[in-house]
Amino acid sequence: MKDIFDKIKTNLGPIGEHAKESHGYFTFPKLEGDINPHMKFRGREMLNWSLNNYLGLANHPEVRKTDADAAANYGLGLPMGARMMSGNSDYHEQLEKELSAYVQKEDTILCNFGYQAMVSAIDALVDRRDVIVYDAESHACILDGVRLHMGKRFVFKHNDIEDCEKQLERATRLAETTGGGILVITEGVFGMRGDQGKLKEIIELKKKFNFRLFVDDAHGIGTMGPNGGGTGEEQNCQEGVDIYFGTFAKSFALIGGFISSTKEIITYLRYNMRSQIFAKSLPMPLVVGALKRLELMRKHPEYRNKLWDIARALQKGLVEAGFDIGVTNTMVTPVYMRGSIPEATNMVIDLRENFGVFCSMVVYPVVPKGMIILRLIPTAVHTMEDVKYTIECFSKIKDKLYGGEYAAERIREGFAQQL
Ligand SMILES: Cc1ncc(COP(=O)(O)O)c(C=O)c1O
Repeated sequence: MKDIFDKIKTNLGPIGEHAKESHGYFTFPKLEGDINPHMKFRGREMLNWSLNNYLGLANHPEVRKTDADAAANYGLGLPMGARMMSGNSDYHEQLEKELSAYVQKEDTILCNFGYQAMVSAIDALVDRRDVIVYDAESHACILDGVRLHMGKRFVFKHNDIEDCEKQLERATRLAETTGGGILVITEGVFGMRGDQGKLKEIIELKKKFNFRLFVDDAHGIGTMGPNGGGTGEEQNCQEGVDIYFGTFAKSFALIGGFISSTKEIITYLRYNMRSQIFAKSLPMPLVVGALKRLELMRKHPEYRNKLWDIARALQKGLVEAGFDIGVTNTMVTPVYMRGSIPEATNMVIDLRENFGVFCSMVVYPVVPKGMIILRLIPTAVHTMEDVKYTIECFSKIKDKLYGGEYAAERIREGFAQQL
């Protein structure tokens, strides 16, 4: 028999196996200072494109003051217990009401973490007779929710409506024998490629199939749609989104999440979502802080407009400079390049150390071997100078990459000694 600890010692997992060389630099980096496009990394100022502070609210003076006042007034503990038992408050209910209006749904349940909310809502909504149909590139929280499902699941190729239809045909045949229903799950904005889920087309399929649609709009809330009400609002089909999920971890620059739907469904979730029934409710400063952020989102469409100005300028500039940014049709900006993992790490070290630009790098096994993605997240607090400087830097590192300058192991090895 094996000792679990022995197994773990020899297998740290696909990302963990690189921990020795990457910890503190590529993984678990420490960005210091106020949340802004310019932050310190290992003592040096960096132009930072790696945070989902889309609307720039994290360091907004009114937000900072509200957060500080709420912490002083209520402390971080209040209310104690789960919502159902002893953790409810007028502010929690007010936030739920205001969020419902913002995303055009009847009712909302606040959740203490976005990730848990998705996992747990999927778990609560389906039973073993039901069938789940979901997008192949769904976020880990959807996959984990699906893993809890005791019935059948069918996955459709990413954003491929033809395949979605095929899977719905299979799901329908099966559900007719089990006596269950069908839940389709996808995302509003896919955080890696930046493409929108084809919500409108999926909703069109309701004419042919009987199913309910659950949308994870973690990146879309606050950024998409004329009022920031999300990707359903953007595609003018929010009515067809039966269950809507948003997180506070991105545009809101906070923590927590919410699910919105009809009164009936939300009442069911309040009494059946295990992650909320058996866990502490959101602390008051987070709830009061979320109310302030929502007020600012509604009052200041110019923040969203500025985000989009920056995103468009960045994407236009990158394409004009010959970069491949794939199929993004949102602010998420992936830059695709080709090279080995050592080349990618050399390039990112150069970008950080010599150009002072910080962004996330994605390589195998997250994407196919030989592909490098540098992922840029524009925000309302970036400037056009930041955009211009970044495109200049990217052009230089691209020339170096394809000129073979990052091929030498010694750059990485020499640098590793300093880590
Ligand atoms: C698409 C998507 N869904 C869910 C989550 C989880 O949200 P949270 O960070 O609030 O747990 C994230 C990441 O934050 C995400 O990108």
